[in-house]
Amino acid sequence: MKAEGINREFLDGVLTGAHPDVYYHFGVSSEDPLLEGLRDVRAIIMAGSGGRIKEFAERWSALNGGSEVIAFPKEDRFVTRYTAGVLFASHGMGMPSASIAVQELMRMVYFLKRGDLEAMDQVFWARVGTSGGVGLPGGTIVVTSEGLMADLKPYRLLQGARGVYWFDGTFPAATREAILRANEGSGLPIVSGKTIATNEFFLEQFRLDGAIRMETAESKQEFLEWLHENGVRNIEMEGAMLAAYLNSWGFSSFAMICACLLNRLEGDQVTSSPDQLHQFSEDSGDVLFNYLRSLLLGGGGE
Ligand code: URA
Repeated sequence: MKAEGINREFLDGVLTGAHPDVYYHFGVSSEDPLLEGLRDVRAIIMAGSGGRIKEFAERWSALNGGSEVIAFPKEDRFVTRYTAGVLFASHGMGMPSASIAVQELMRMVYFLKRGDLEAMDQVFWARVGTSGGVGLPGGTIVVTSEGLMADLKPYRLLQGARGVYWFDGTFPAATREAILRANEGSGLPIVSGKTIATNEFFLEQFRLDGAIRMETAESKQEFLEWLHENGVRNIEMEGAMLAAYLNSWGFSSFAMICACLLNRLEGDQVTSSPDQLHQFSEDSGDVLFNYLRSLLLGGGGE
């Protein structure tokens, strides 16, 4: 962990009881008795949709002898469940939404682990999501090596008019390799590679089917081929920020696992059938659960 990256000025006051921390978008605070039941958290699993979070939590509970599933009271922003050492939380769509979830979850982990850096570093983080494949057919699952923005530069934010805050979007190689190992022999189509996170589904992903169109068929193809030549294997909307923030605190174990819904070299619209989409989602969930089982229920892992 990187103590210097942690906002201790604010967070240590929560530990001493000088002031509470209100995780507003999750509808809980550090004074909420509900959080006492989460002290043993070992993994935080995020996904875009609340429905997926509920399914994941039920599935993890079943693997843990029907462990109690604790639901957070507020669900109008993010859906959150905790069971058997794993906190499952939705983050909505895109980096502005997901960054709120990630920052509040990081604060929650600091509180739950009482600022103990070693205990915090035991927590595994993952986002399981969907993406557009770059040269990969629908159904392929990408475990990300590095999260970048659409210009192949790392995640950054405006520092007002004064400059730019830069971050590191690298995903830890050891965790990625452990995920691939846990899935050996599964028959699932898994690859690893760089992922770009965009701020828009249509324009920044060079789609030609948006309400607004800025590109031609040629410039779109050129962009996607440039991405491919630079090792990018998929496009989604959260990964660069996720790695950036977790690296700021120096977490050593986190990953992103995304199913490709289509091959962007071949089209823009998601035309897979509901059955195919369901299968893609099941498969990326399986990749996560194969690793979670190895990590938390014995049998190796990292
Ligand atoms: N999610 C994205 O951001 N892009 C796609 O093409 C598919 C899913």
